Amino acid sequence: MADPAQAPADRGDGESPPPADVAFVRRIRKDFQRIQMEHEFAVDEVLTKVSILRKEFLHLHRYNPIEHVGSRVKSPTSILQKVARLGIEPTPEAIRASIHDIAGVRITCSFIADTYRVLEALTFQTDVRVIRIKDYITHPKPNGYKSLHALIEIPVFLSTGPVPVTVEVQVRTIAMDFWASLEHKIYYKYDGAVPAGLVASLTEAAQLAELLDQRMEELHTEVRGTGWESAE
Ligand code: GTP
Ligand code: MG
Repeated sequence: MADPAQAPADRGDGESPPPADVAFVRRIRKDFQRIQMEHEFAVDEVLTKVSILRKEFLHLHRYNPIEHVGSRVKSPTSILQKVARLGIEPTPEAIRASIHDIAGVRITCSFIADTYRVLEALTFQTDVRVIRIKDYITHPKPNGYKSLHALIEIPVFLSTGPVPVTVEVQVRTIAMDFWASLEHKIYYKYDGAVPAGLVASLTEAAQLAELLDQRMEELHTEVRGTGWESAE
């Protein structure tokens, strides 16, 4: 699909679109750039919060519960594709109301207990408004997918004042992340129509990942019980 956000307003070849279209494309391009910018700022805010939590945990407990943090902001093309898929107007208001995964932050933790601890510490903050939490760790998806999903809204302070921006935060363990990234690749390879045998194998692998998470957590508790890595 053509991306109005990237489209030149005037090609200077004598075949420019009529003025009304030029104005329309310019407006959409500006709107999309603004949406993208606001979500980039929101991701920066969340990344700063996560970095502070990580350093504080390390300082207090000499223990880092966060293994890795990743983020992404949907491109204007990708937002437009979702606009078309949802059948909504390409206006900032409709996009903000209906598309909540423009900004995404993924936090990978060492252990299951850490995923809950980190999400709680993040959502507890007074400038974070929780819109929705989905606990796919306690209630995995039928295919075995596990993760904590939180839709949060945080204020981004612009020159015109604060703007509330939604960010989708996913928190999972290394084992859950390993599984999800392979499942994602397989899903795309088969364009969603994954053969039944492969689906069953993936679900079985998710159970193995769960066993690994449990075993690692037990080992960790055992070792910590001896005072290793303790702050005291
Ligand atoms: P969409 O984001 O539009 O799909 O709607 P939703 O908010 O109902 O989605 P959900 O909270 O179930 O999942 C949002 C995101 O979680 C997806 O975009 C993926 O990144 C991830 N996710 C959810 N289910 C799966 C899954 O079965 N496999 C993998 N690999 N990732 C998943
Ligand atoms: Mg999504």
